[in-house]
Amino acid sequence: MTLPTRATLVEVGPRDGLQNEAQTISLENKVELIENLALAGHRVIEAGSFVNPKWVPQMADSEAVFAAIKRQDGVRYAALTPNLQGFERALAAGVSEVAIFGAASESFSQKNINCSISDSLQRFEAVMTAAAEHKIPVRGYVSCVLGCPYEGTIEPAAVDTVTGALLDMGCYEVSLGDTIGTGTAGSMTQLLNKLLANYSADKLAVHCHDTYGQALSNILVALQLGISTIDSSIAGLGGCPYAKGASGNVATEDVVYMLDGLGIHSGLDLEALIAAGNQISTALGRASSSRVARALSPDKTR
Ligand code: HMG
Ligand code: MG
Repeated sequence: MTLPTRATLVEVGPRDGLQNEAQTISLENKVELIENLALAGHRVIEAGSFVNPKWVPQMADSEAVFAAIKRQDGVRYAALTPNLQGFERALAAGVSEVAIFGAASESFSQKNINCSISDSLQRFEAVMTAAAEHKIPVRGYVSCVLGCPYEGTIEPAAVDTVTGALLDMGCYEVSLGDTIGTGTAGSMTQLLNKLLANYSADKLAVHCHDTYGQALSNILVALQLGISTIDSSIAGLGGCPYAKGASGNVATEDVVYMLDGLGIHSGLDLEALIAAGNQISTALGRASSSRVARALSPDKTR
């Protein structure tokens, strides 16, 4: 088994996690979470989203979040930007980088960003041009890579087309979203073998929602195939407002526990992560969804 010696975790909890919360979360709680994540060793944190606040009210205060966080040297603070309007807001807020997000499924594209896949790629071109002008790196996402809540099975060829388009327009990396968590080690292997025939492993990341409990095994498959960038969400927070039933991303604490066991360096401090995850879970009034956090701090997460 060949495994990378290092892995980078992209912490998406403050965005992918919190965007799906119905309850009001104070600015203070959001800021404290982001600062704690940086102190625990995260070097890439998706801290907000500049989308239409009517669609995702929980992210409406992203400007305020970016204005309030105490930034650490060497940490990249990222945000989602679906269009030029979002990019301009993100730029004014002082983001380090942005992410554009497309889908491998037409129906999901319509529900999530209100346009077809080909129209979304056109909108993204405008973001890419503006980002290049301001020297802001852009990450790409493809949703529904292993299944769609509206269309079911998604062919690897559809994922390949959108991944290629995002890389061609200048995204430095594409994160492959198993939005509804239906993928298995089998379907993930099939997809990655297809993509790795066309793109190098350092251009790809995996973004596994853990709805069916398959995320860690899918991530292990990705690591074995040489992919070393993994998205995760502290305390397993979240879901996607446009993918009914989708649960949170794989918990950061659980990924770090697995990486530690494999001897893969992540630069993250498990104890500090557990403390950060327990703190936001307490603020949300529920137990952490991280199995590792629950095992290692049963009294705090009951
Ligand atoms: P639209 O309604 O088609 O936009 O939305 P529009 O261009 O027709 O404009 C309509 C209104 O939206 C206008 O306002 C615009 O100003 C406003 P009005 O005149 O009606 O008052 N608007 C904006 N306001 C603020 N910021 C903006 C912005 N753009 C337009 N950037 C849009 C198109 C994409 C904006 C909309 O569909 C939207 O906001 N969707 C939200 C999508 C979203 O955030 N989804 C969750 C994140 S994706 C995800 O979770 C998946 C991921 O984790 C990977 C995975 O798991 O697979 C990344
Ligand atoms: Mg997601």
